[in-house]
Amino acid sequence: MNLLGIETSCDETSAAVISGGNGAAPSILSNVVLSQVDIHQPYEGVVPEIAARAHLSHIDRIVAQAMDEADIDFAALDGIAVAGGPGLIGGVIVGVMTAKAIAAVHKLAFLAVNHLEGHALTVRLTQDLEFPFLLLLVSGGHCQLLAVTGVGAYHRLGTTLDDALGEAFDKTAKMLGLGYPGGPQVELRAKTGDAGRFDLPRPMRGRPGCDFSFSGLKTAVRRRIEKIGAPTDTDIDDICAAFQCAVGDVLADRAGRALDIFERRFGDPSALVVAGGVAANQYLRGQLSNFAAARGLELAAPPPDLCTDNGAMIAWAGLERLRLGLTDGLDFAPRPRWPLDPNAAPAMGAGVKA
Ligand code: KG4
Ligand code: ZN
Repeated sequence: MNLLGIETSCDETSAAVISGGNGAAPSILSNVVLSQVDIHQPYEGVVPEIAARAHLSHIDRIVAQAMDEADIDFAALDGIAVAGGPGLIGGVIVGVMTAKAIAAVHKLAFLAVNHLEGHALTVRLTQDLEFPFLLLLVSGGHCQLLAVTGVGAYHRLGTTLDDALGEAFDKTAKMLGLGYPGGPQVELRAKTGDAGRFDLPRPMRGRPGCDFSFSGLKTAVRRRIEKIGAPTDTDIDDICAAFQCAVGDVLADRAGRALDIFERRFGDPSALVVAGGVAANQYLRGQLSNFAAARGLELAAPPPDLCTDNGAMIAWAGLERLRLGLTDGLDFAPRPRWPLDPNAAPAMGAGVKA
């Protein structure tokens, strides 16, 4: 099967063609990603209206380039998958309308994929991994631990009560004047930093359950910066290293709790999977890998360029759905919110009250 995938839910305009699903190992025939980082940089964050306009200006060209690089005709496709949400709705609408038009003209199966399902299943594109697995999904908008028992079968074990982890990285970077997006900058600066110089809190560590909270850590970083006044390059490196180290400790602690819950409810997972933009962080991958090894588990993670948003992950989730017959109608309505686990209660905090 050959699938075209389109991703426009945040600040990357991306289209990809993948092939697979019939026993043969899947392959990525093209994966064109146009980052909007430059146009959002002056605002130190993504401006939804600007993002939507940029997606609209570029999507046709990006799709054409993906088809070209894959050296394939629309007639040779079996389906078209698009991130139908959750995300910035203007961008999602651009992707969904484009995909519907292509599906209608070329009479292709249409698949509206949950963006988070794209992140969740990417690891099965790059390696042979069976269900069920324990998933740590860490991106700019989400921070969740889930039991993944099949395609479309997600059980949320824990979530953040306030900021997403990528957001905490981005805010830390912003406070330090490192620009947007902050995650890669913080990782880079942490490499030369001394993680032991500043003692930062490990929010939620040791607490029952496996929810997260990052607002206290963010506040602690802000206080440190205020105390220093004008941080030098060394101060910045040390704060980044301390922040990243605190995050690593929290992730391992929370993943440990989630694994206990997983084993009780679902038996042994095939692996601990980390996915989403923050999963590109090599230090955190190392810490999670140590944690997993100590619990006799493998850590499975997509290569870094497939952790951040891209069309291949959407195409792959589409392929997984298509082979189960889970297609969508052209009346699909783009969704700004779309929880992976429909049965999970909204997280407390972040404007949600008990
Ligand atoms: O999955 P993604 O590309 O978009 C969303 O669905 O949100 O994730 C983007 C997030 C941003 O917050 C970015 O700072 C973070 O992932 N990120 C990283 C790294 N690369 C991207 N965070 C930490 N370390 C990285 N190397
Ligand atoms: Zn994402």
